[in-house]
Amino acid sequence: MSHNTFGHLFRITTWGESHGPAIGCVVDGCPPLIPLTEADIQPLLDQRKPGGSRFVTQRQEADQVRILSGVFDDGNGMVTTGTPISLMIENTDQRSKDYGEIARAFRPGHADYAYQSKYGVRDHRGGGRSSARETASRVAAGAVARKVLGESVRIRAGVVQLGPHRIADEAIDFDAVHDNALFAASAEVVPAWEEYLDGVRKAGSSIGAVVALEVTGVPAGWGAPLYGKLDAELAAGMMSINAVKGVEIGAGFAAAELSGEDNADEMRLGEDGRPVFLSNKAGGVLGGISSGQPLTARVAFKPTSSILTLRQSINRDGEEVDLRTKGRHDPCVALRGVPVVEAMAAIVLADAMLRHRAQVG
Ligand SMILES: Cc1cc2nc3c(=O)[nH]c(=O)nc-3n(C[C@H](O)[C@H](O)[C@H](O)COP(=O)(O)O)c2cc1C
Repeated sequence: MSHNTFGHLFRITTWGESHGPAIGCVVDGCPPLIPLTEADIQPLLDQRKPGGSRFVTQRQEADQVRILSGVFDDGNGMVTTGTPISLMIENTDQRSKDYGEIARAFRPGHADYAYQSKYGVRDHRGGGRSSARETASRVAAGAVARKVLGESVRIRAGVVQLGPHRIADEAIDFDAVHDNALFAASAEVVPAWEEYLDGVRKAGSSIGAVVALEVTGVPAGWGAPLYGKLDAELAAGMMSINAVKGVEIGAGFAAAELSGEDNADEMRLGEDGRPVFLSNKAGGVLGGISSGQPLTARVAFKPTSSILTLRQSINRDGEEVDLRTKGRHDPCVALRGVPVVEAMAAIVLADAMLRHRAQVG
């Protein structure tokens, strides 16, 4: 059984392959009367789109979104109607010949072998369905989710570690992310990181990275214990992104090294009588329910598997082959992963908000 649908009340289904005519998604369960036009979606897609700098793949895709259904202008502007919203993005720069020689061979680190083993058939062109081209559909759906959440929920992500180079927690500045081509969450690291990534790129190699996520404005109460815990669903959403190999919520793995005194977030009353947490090791989730603190997570991306170095593999004919993955690739996939992390967070949270509303009003 395949699963191309994510979410419960706010539910997205994505479709399409890397080198097919188009990709897209159907967003079902979006409440009615939310203003929505293509202009709400396009700027987010533009952040993810390829070809924007020398640090990302040179595939040139316009990534122009079209809303095919689910909105209507009844005289007061275009709004959602409560019916399925279908979003489509045409593929315009497929170069299937780049992938000709890997039609039979399995590229190391890619999904080729696993798809072939499971289905007995696969669209090898650009990775077909397993290609991260699919993440454009998530970003489009995420833009709708953001509209559902409203402006009080602020979702921000940025690269906080590039290979061995890490931005100290206290130096993370999400405001810097969209002012540099690396989506780095600090202006200071950019010159050194650019030099480092240029070296990686010129060597035909690749490197992994960590993307940090911060969401503010989520009130206490979202999340559905026990099996729909908010942190579990956030982690599942992030792990479903191509190339993601690890997710930490709050202090994450570092919590294993902390004492109870250092880890448990103490509480006091603020001047307005409302609760105040003195730290946020929990990453904004207690018992699977949002606590009203910022939601924080870290998402680890593996290095791009398509590299220019000759690699050992096998093919469908049971032969050993040596393979060099040509074509156009990102030296660090995490950079374009930043808007995807934000989109998945929005999709998880819109669903959590609607389910919270459904259960407790
Ligand atoms: C935005 C984005 C762009 C990506 N671009 C590439 C790429 O150019 N080359 C590549 O080898 N992998 C790329 N990937 C990763 C692959 O899609 C992914 O590693 C592959 O499908 C196998 O899936 P898995 O790593 O989740 O197991 C990208 C991932 C993301 C999130």
